Amino acid sequence: MCGIVGYVGSQSALEVVLAGLRRLEYRGYDSAGVAVLADGGIAAAKKSGKLVNLEKALVDQPLPAGAAGIGHTRWATHGGPTDANAHPHLDNAGRVAVVHNGIIENFAELRAELAARGHVLGSETDTEVVAHLLAEECSGGADLAAAMRLVCRRLNGAFTLVAVHADAPDVVVGARRDSPLVVGVGEGEAFLASDVAAFIAHTRSAIELGQDQVVEVRRDGGAGGAGGVGVVVTDFDGRPADVRHFRVDWDAAAAEKGGHASFMHKEIAEQPRAVADTLLGRIGADGELLLDELRIPAAELREVDKVVVVACGTAFHAGLIAKYAIEHWTRIPCEVEPASEFRHRDPILDARTLVVAVSQSGETMDTLMALRHAREQGSRVLAICNTNGSTIPRESDAVLYTHAGPEVAVASTKAFLTQLVACYLVALYLGQVRGTKWGDEIQGVVRDLAGIAGAVERVLADMEPVRALARSLAGAGTVLFLGRHVGYPVALEGALKLKELAYMHAEGFAAGELKHGPIALVEEGLPVVVVVPSPRGRSVLHDKIVSNIQEIRARGARTIVIAEEGDETVLPCADHVVWVPVTPTLLQPLVTTVPLQVFACELAVARGNEVDQPRNLAKSVTVE
Ligand code: M6R
Repeated sequence: MCGIVGYVGSQSALEVVLAGLRRLEYRGYDSAGVAVLADGGIAAAKKSGKLVNLEKALVDQPLPAGAAGIGHTRWATHGGPTDANAHPHLDNAGRVAVVHNGIIENFAELRAELAARGHVLGSETDTEVVAHLLAEECSGGADLAAAMRLVCRRLNGAFTLVAVHADAPDVVVGARRDSPLVVGVGEGEAFLASDVAAFIAHTRSAIELGQDQVVEVRRDGGAGGAGGVGVVVTDFDGRPADVRHFRVDWDAAAAEKGGHASFMHKEIAEQPRAVADTLLGRIGADGELLLDELRIPAAELREVDKVVVVACGTAFHAGLIAKYAIEHWTRIPCEVEPASEFRHRDPILDARTLVVAVSQSGETMDTLMALRHAREQGSRVLAICNTNGSTIPRESDAVLYTHAGPEVAVASTKAFLTQLVACYLVALYLGQVRGTKWGDEIQGVVRDLAGIAGAVERVLADMEPVRALARSLAGAGTVLFLGRHVGYPVALEGALKLKELAYMHAEGFAAGELKHGPIALVEEGLPVVVVVPSPRGRSVLHDKIVSNIQEIRARGARTIVIAEEGDETVLPCADHVVWVPVTPTLLQPLVTTVPLQVFACELAVARGNEVDQPRNLAKSVTVE
């Protein structure tokens, strides 16, 4: 939540920061602001609403270009999305400007202290106190980095802070605790940002900051100078800190729409490639799975007696599907829990529990807190993550990266499919090291997985009828989704997509639960999407769901059936059929989810909604 950019270098700081904000706007779009260091002072502008409002304001009242600057795109927590609450926040003298992502929990007490010392605070935010505290420390003689360290020690909560001071026109300082911040190092320039997308057009060389660290980037100087820019990282006590350098393995084009109407369209279309990339390099010549990056010794994995998957939203749905594969292939009990609930119920965990934390962003606070709790209880944590340099993999014992590439649209699509692939790989790997699956069985599933990219491509090639259907339902009030077995989490995911994109009432149910209550919702014309299991797999479930479709149709429902090619048994009870290629039962979610993504996206567009930035949401939820 909230996107932050800082820049120092030879380009126009204003332009670089604005371009970075455009790439980070998916993180929050309630308001936006910039501050640049120029002419011995700080020039700032901020506006409520989307970034475009700020850009228009800057046309009317331009700011100087500056050589250093900071910017922010906000997802509001404390104080509504007004101009006054937008970042940057400045101290009373206008010498310090700061942007913030996270929540400063003790801000009320700090605010009272500052007010008692004569400071005038003009916003309702928790952030503004930081600008005033930094200004006090600087007027007491500290430089900006030292002031940041002192102030951070006084803050409770989660924060990324990036600040500038008018007296240090070539310096930008950042700090992080439980909230993301990465450094980009270019030729004679450096960037601070919530994620690499902000600076990927300028450099692919990045530094990952650790927990409770302060970074100073200084042009023409500083220790460890990189092409005229020094980057100094310390902990909050000023001790030099270890950092990890990494190279971003995708380029700027990956974070562009590339001719698509929206990032979501593009990311849906990229799924065959993302699925294939996530499998790359993970299968040895002899067909053995190679997950060396897991870093958890096979001996330890053999001792695991319970797997717990923690995740949120769409990633949670991936976890629900993973449970079927993990239990079926490894015979280890698997629990799946929304990360936000996990630690609050005192879960039973020990050294033999493997906790799998699934997160696209690697920054979801609920998931991070869940994994910390698990580690405190002595469990091993394996992260499945799409974002190199993010907090969740860094704090886990092991990580399996999905290779979806940057996912910009708030609604998760390609990340979901690649999370599923990664979950299947983990389940197979557990089966391999524990000997619950024969090598040839594993190779068989791996072959099936390798065929999925092509299957998804075929699904995507025939989506026009789904789009037309979605458009025809733009006026519907409610859509229900039903599924069984692995189709049940798919139904939940279909409903989540529709809620977040089309702002419609949508619910997913296990089809067998229908008769226990939800069938009362069915009335004439109600659209109900049903994900039908393969007739070749657990055929008993297939037949039961066909009966369920008949039951709801008899009560007036308009049935939209997603079924395997050739499954003609659904024809008599389906008002619309969406065919998907034949896949093994456990892998079916990789194909059945895709039409639901397209359906939600098209319906949202038909209702005039902005699919990439749905209202009230943010891509990366870094608050609990
Ligand atoms: O970055 P994460 O995978 O941890 O995010 C988890 C959820 O916030 C995310 O999947 C959310 O539900 C998406 N907007 C759904 O499309």
